[in-house]
This record gives sequence, structure tokens and C-alpha cells, in this order.
Amino acid sequence: MNEYKVLVVYRTKHGSTRRYAGWIADALDADIVNGEENGWEQRLSEYDTIIYGGNLNESGINGIAKFRARTGSHPDQNIVYFAVGSFPPSEDTVVELVNANFPEHLRSQVKLFHFRGRLDFLGLGFWEKFLMRGFQKRLLEREKKQGFRTETDNELLMAFEQEMDWSDKTTIQPLVDYVKAFMTPQQLQKTEQAAAARMAETEKREEQEARDWEEEQKRREALFLERQEKEKEGKLRRLNKKQRAQYEENKARRESMEQAEAEKTGDAEEDFTSEDDYSDFYDEDEKRD
Ligand SMILES: Cc1cc2nc3c(=O)[nH]c(=O)nc-3n(C[C@H](O)[C@H](O)[C@H](O)COP(=O)(O)O)c2cc1C
Repeated sequence: MNEYKVLVVYRTKHGSTRRYAGWIADALDADIVNGEENGWEQRLSEYDTIIYGGNLNESGINGIAKFRARTGSHPDQNIVYFAVGSFPPSEDTVVELVNANFPEHLRSQVKLFHFRGRLDFLGLGFWEKFLMRGFQKRLLEREKKQGFRTETDNELLMAFEQEMDWSDKTTIQPLVDYVKAFMTPQQLQKTEQAAAARMAETEKREEQEARDWEEEQKRREALFLERQEKEKEGKLRRLNKKQRAQYEENKARRESMEQAEAEKTGDAEEDFTSEDDYSDFYDEDEKRD
């Protein structure tokens, strides 16, 4: 019995496509390679199925032309594609993506799957930010025209303020099932055994990564607050006597007003110190600096 061999080739800009490629490779006990590396095209004839995945950029699948040029001499192999973008996948988007990425004579044979990845405006490069600003403008214009914001548009607009991650491991299942359907029962059994061990390993690693990420976020937040506090102290030290007296007076007045308000509404005790208390002095300070 020959083993059924699968190769996953991917290209990514910010990592979501690599993540999907890893999940797919685990589930099919496949080899995995970054499409930007060299050498994999010489080994193509070893594989029964080649899966190519790329991130979406202005409807284009990253690296697809290069991939097709490299695999052109292996027409017998079963080739499956996947694209990772920020729009929710649907049958319509798959048709649009096939039309945008393949010549007309190939479209009816193309097997393409569409997954949703991650979008983080603040982490993009200059040119990507520029393009995304245009996209944001189009979304806001659409909202203005129709008088409401759709749920998808809302999620996409949120990515301009915070990282949005829609990656979902379970969505690879149709692709995995599609490839498994080519395997003999013995090949399938062998693949599934090996895949189970790999998937468990990845799950353990991802859980640890999630914990590390949370720790890192907490550490960054604490560092940020500490720096803010130090900056505040430094600026206060630089105030002259009169300014300091004025600041203390403003602060005391503000605190007593807020305290009175809190007692009236029955709110719990809060920290009422506000940047506003000495923001005037900051401005003067900065002018002097
Ligand atoms: C400049 C730019 C253009 C994009 N164009 C599309 C697009 O046409 N369709 C889509 O669904 N997502 C689009 N996206 C979103 C990315 O495809 C999405 O963030 C994806 O998860 C990125 O994959 P990666 O993390 O592997 O690089 C675009 C993102 C950027 C920055």
C-alpha cells in the first residue's frame, strides 16, 4: 500500500494563511512549505495532491501566478487552492475569486476554498495602510448611502481600531474531506492516525501560545501605565510653585465635585485624577521645552 502524499504550499503576508496551511497539513498529515522558498518544485512529482494557499490582496491570491508557472509541467496532479481574506466566505465570493485569479478556460476545473483570517490595520505597512484607508472610505460611504451599517462592514471597520481575528480551524473541514475522498481506505486510516497525533500536538502548542500572548499583553499594559505615571510625575516636578498650587487647587476642587456626584448617584469609589487637571500646564511646559 502506497502512502497518499500531500504537499501544502502557502504564501502569507501577516501569518493567517500560514496558520491555515499548518492546520490543513496536520489534518492530512501533509508536508508543508513556504512558497517563497526554493526547491519544493523539484519534488512535486512525489505528491498525489498539492494544496496551494495564499492571502487575498485586492481580490488577488498572493503568489498564484508564480505557483501556476512552477506547477505547469505537472498537469496530472490533483491541485487544490485556498484563499484567506477578511470577508466572510460564501459561494459567491468563491466564484468571484476564481474569476479574478484564473483564466477562463481553467475556471470550471478549479477547486478553491475560501477562509477568513485576521486583519489588524495598525500592524500593516505604509502602502497597505494607504490601500486600506481607501477601503475604509468606501465602507463609510456605503453606510452613509444606505443609512445603516451591515454586521460585516461593522466588523471590517472595527479592524481599523483593533486586531480582528476570524480564523477558525473548523472551516478547513470541507477541504480536508475533499482531499481524503481520493485516498484508499488503507491510506485514509494511516493518514488519520498520523493526523490525530499532529493535531493534538498543535493544539497543545496553540494553547500555550495563547497563554503567552495574554501574559505579554498584561506585561505591556503594566509597562504602559508605569511609563504614563512616570511621565506625569516628571511633568509635575517641572511646574513652578504658582502652577503647582493652581494644580493642587484644581485637583482638590475636581475631586470634591466628583465625590459629591458619586455620593449622590451611589457610585463606588473611583480614581478621579484626570489629565485635565494639569493639561494646561503641560501645554505651557511643552511650549517652553
Ligand atoms: C491591502 C490589503 C488588501 C486586501 N484585500 C482583500 C481582499 O480583496 N479580499 C479579502 O477578503 N481580504 C482582503 N484583505 C485582507 C487580508 O486578506 C486578510 O487580512 C488576510 O487574513 C491576510 O492573510 P495573511 O495574514 O496570511 O497575510 C486585504 C488586506 C490588505 C492589507
